[in-house]
Amino acid sequence: MIKAKIQDALNKQLNAELYSSYLYLSMTAYFESVSLKGFANWMRVQAQEELAHAMKFYDYINERAGRVNLTSISAPSAEWDSPLAAFEQVYEHEQKVTGLINDLVTLAIAETDHATNNFLQWFVAEQVEEESSADEIVQRLRLLGEDRSGLFMLDQELGQRIFTPPGTADGE
Ligand code: FEO
Repeated sequence: MIKAKIQDALNKQLNAELYSSYLYLSMTAYFESVSLKGFANWMRVQAQEELAHAMKFYDYINERAGRVNLTSISAPSAEWDSPLAAFEQVYEHEQKVTGLINDLVTLAIAETDHATNNFLQWFVAEQVEEESSADEIVQRLRLLGEDRSGLFMLDQELGQRIFTPPGTADGE
């Protein structure tokens, strides 16, 4: 049985992961609208990953005989000024999520909930990846500036991304 305080915090994070998925799905729609199909593909995979993160919290709460509590998901923005502006927001958002995961770890330690701390370590590692991949794309877009052919090449590259469910060989 899980402590109410931990259960509430995990449910809050479940909502935050669903919001992340919603935000990235909105960015997918933005990239579709400006005919950057590869960027749209990358973001759609990211939205799927976030949904998988949410389900990890969902499953864990149930596994600990807790109660999942779904609350409303805030509406994300719908438009961005440029691909760079969208990816800057991804990077900023992922840094915020890292902070939320770190706060959860701090709470699990304070409540001596070793199982939850252990569960969260996967997310601690995942956030390193999440920040790094978003930052890499931000840096590349900054380097490209107004280079349209470079943008087209990056679009081709991002179009190769495939969703691999977390926990499988390539899904980290
Ligand atoms: Fe679920 Fe992008 O962290």
